[in-house]
Amino acid sequence: MSISNREFSKRRKDLMSQMESNSIAILASASPSIRNNDAEYQYRQNSDFYYLTGFSEPRALLALIPGRRQAEAVLFCQEKDKEKELWSGFILGPDAAIEELGIDDAYPIEDIDEIILGLIEGRDRIYYSMGKDNEFDARVMDWVRIIRSQAKAGSHPPNEFQVLDHLLHELRLIKSSAEIKLMEKAAKISVKGHKAAMAMCKPGIKEYELEAELLYSFTRNGSRSPAYVSIVGAGDNACILHYDSNDAEIKPGDLVLIDAGCEYEYYASDITRTFPATGKFSPEQKAIYEIVLKAQEAAIEAAVPGASWDAPHEASVKAITRGLVRLGLMRGAPSQLIKNLAYKEFYMHRVGHWIGMDVHDVGDYKIDNQWRLLEPGMVTTIEPGIYISPNNTKVPKKWRGIGVRIEDDVLITKTSNRILSMGIPKTVKEIESYMSAARY
Ligand code: GLY
Ligand code: MN
Ligand code: MN
Repeated sequence: MSISNREFSKRRKDLMSQMESNSIAILASASPSIRNNDAEYQYRQNSDFYYLTGFSEPRALLALIPGRRQAEAVLFCQEKDKEKELWSGFILGPDAAIEELGIDDAYPIEDIDEIILGLIEGRDRIYYSMGKDNEFDARVMDWVRIIRSQAKAGSHPPNEFQVLDHLLHELRLIKSSAEIKLMEKAAKISVKGHKAAMAMCKPGIKEYELEAELLYSFTRNGSRSPAYVSIVGAGDNACILHYDSNDAEIKPGDLVLIDAGCEYEYYASDITRTFPATGKFSPEQKAIYEIVLKAQEAAIEAAVPGASWDAPHEASVKAITRGLVRLGLMRGAPSQLIKNLAYKEFYMHRVGHWIGMDVHDVGDYKIDNQWRLLEPGMVTTIEPGIYISPNNTKVPKKWRGIGVRIEDDVLITKTSNRILSMGIPKTVKEIESYMSAARY
């Protein structure tokens, strides 16, 4: 299961068809990053670059020159080097790149400075991702400067620079059926991990033991990396949105919030479940949990084609505000509390974000300053939560330190939506019976 060369080629063509005439787009691979001294972090290709090439090696660059007769898609990559390959593994090399990736032409990256000048010269406009990588920005400017310096000799330097991101990210926002299959697979692997972690949870273990179970399960099932640092927060830690120390002991009476998802073939999943350490909710935990679940259901119901991007968020705000008023945790008329943003004390983030190759995926949320409408092929998370700070002295003690989030990955379909991350116990009843069965 993967993206075909034909699809990679179609992506390049789609992008080129939207570029202004007589222009060139230049994209660089991700730079390896140092963890410390000479140890690097695991390399992961830049999503934009991979989206257009399917090429996972560092030290590479892609030039797209629509309308160029000899070759429209030109890749620069590391040359084959048997000696180097003995140390750091397989290198595809330019010759094989043409064949394997279906790229029009390829050259050694060492030769880029000579060749790229000829590709840029004569083009009116350069598209690239500006302002993200100083080194790359400087290189592009150097190339332009050289061409400018030769203007007297008849060189035609580009005089317009455009951010590539918008065109490219609109393409990435709408997922193809092959992409959806990979996202489904990523979600399926994550579902297994969540179920395994939920099944082994018991008071007395450390949060990182559940993290270990997730990572073990992800890797055993073919994922080579989590899509983001896993959050395993027990008790008060569930109220810290980006908690990731994951090193506290899980106590009886704690709720455990796990926000974890694997990446599979460059596609992310992002799932949260919250469950009681003992397998049995306290009445207060259950009451809060039921509100969040209702909010999630209402938000998912609102995530349909043609609806505003904001509709699911609004639905979740309504359900959470009403629920908290019913429990006496907020006082006043729900409509007024929504207007005043009073709910933000308990629900301080939005209901979701695009998800795709990046866990917080690319794509605009507004068009002309208006929330955009949902379309088939978009994938968003739906993840409402209620977090009652342990220091919130305005509410009775029994409510403090309860943190609940429920998160799924939702594909917008032609007629409504489909939850990609199905299969993890989610209702109170499902969680309690699953955990109790796992114990015996
Ligand atoms: N795991 C990051 C998020 O839920 O957005
Ligand atoms: Mn998440
Ligand atoms: Mn998320």
